Amino acid sequence: MPSRVHPGKVYALPQSPQLFKQILMISGMDRYFQMARCYRDEDLRADRQPEFTQIDLEMSFVERDDILGLIEGMIQHVFSRVLDTEIPAPFKRMTWHQAMDIYGSDKPDLRFPMDIKDVSESFAGVEFKVFESALAEGGRIRCIVVPEAGKSSRKELDGIIEKGKECGLAGVVALPLKDGEAKGVLTKYMDADRLAAFIKEIGAGENDLVLFAAGKAREISVALGKLRLHLAAKFNMVPSEKFCFLWVVDFPLFSIDSETGRIVAEHHPFTSPVPEDADIMESDPLNVRSNAYDLVLNGVELGSGSIRIHDRAMQERLFKIIGLTNEQANEKFGYLMTAFEYGAPPHGGIALGADRLTALMAGQESIREVLAFPKNHQAICPLTSAPVVPSEEQLRILKIKTVAEEK
Ligand code: AMO
Repeated sequence: MPSRVHPGKVYALPQSPQLFKQILMISGMDRYFQMARCYRDEDLRADRQPEFTQIDLEMSFVERDDILGLIEGMIQHVFSRVLDTEIPAPFKRMTWHQAMDIYGSDKPDLRFPMDIKDVSESFAGVEFKVFESALAEGGRIRCIVVPEAGKSSRKELDGIIEKGKECGLAGVVALPLKDGEAKGVLTKYMDADRLAAFIKEIGAGENDLVLFAAGKAREISVALGKLRLHLAAKFNMVPSEKFCFLWVVDFPLFSIDSETGRIVAEHHPFTSPVPEDADIMESDPLNVRSNAYDLVLNGVELGSGSIRIHDRAMQERLFKIIGLTNEQANEKFGYLMTAFEYGAPPHGGIALGADRLTALMAGQESIREVLAFPKNHQAICPLTSAPVVPSEEQLRILKIKTVAEEK
């Protein structure tokens, strides 16, 4: 927001009140709860708006399970009061690694099965080139079982395989089970008894379709995860009015930014590491787990939070790893670092997306459906046409020169 009072200067609209709520905890206010308005200038999707609302909270002297329990109680209360629906608690929990391996996503939709199975061991010694070379290169073989899709025609199968490639797989090996037998290329490379034992082991049966992918473990899981979502929609496997909550825990503290190749904080840089992993932050940053947790509902990230860093030395170490010099850290976050020196209490919190929660409860795909005046998918307000080009007069008052040309 350009400032008229301080011409040439701008206020940053808050992406969230993260640092303010932490400062409140440090100041001695031990509990904070707010419906917080947040502003983000990012690419829009069905569940993203530039202006949105968080159910935001923070507490001192809490541990992860205090927050998870509190949120479970709140969700149970809201669903019971608003939808007359009882939500069982505690919610299921899964580590980030499990979620990525078994569902290829950090926000798995658990309303339908089709989990990704690692079947590498079952194919040891099978002389099928695609599998053999993947295993020889240290890769894995993974599969999903698609119920009732074994009956698909040749053309439909080709379509599914093509979709697998669109999802990022080099190839998909299909094993349809129909008319009491297994079909497809694998039958040439495995004797019937071994194949039958394998099919039993993975719990597949008549009319199912087993789809295999071979390659680097994480890559094939992510691609199979996308294919899983596509097929669940295609074969109408997604029950409406079913609410499957899940906590994803033990996220990595850092990740590599795909555009710059640099180490970045996976959540935000105020998230603490799991204490046992703090020693390897510098030597092995990508294997450090964070004390962060995401609440997932039906494949949507509904909320995100963490136990925070409350110690200046630890905060400085983390900033250094993500490439901030002490000088930059002090310039940007000096007030937080200084506050830590006054005996900051351990604290943590979470923020839930209120618009996402409302949309999911209302059975809507997009949060636009539950907002009064949403921006469209091009981030334009259809009512007022905002954002608009400011007038010469406005720019003159604010002492701002623009370089952007009107399209
Ligand atoms: P985070 O950035 O993960 O965490 O946001 C928390 C939750 O806010 C919702 N959300 C959005 N909803 C609509 N449109 C958007 N553009 C949008 N961006 C985020 C999501 C998300 O899970 N300060 C931290 C929270 C914390 O650590 O306490 C934060 O903002 O539902």
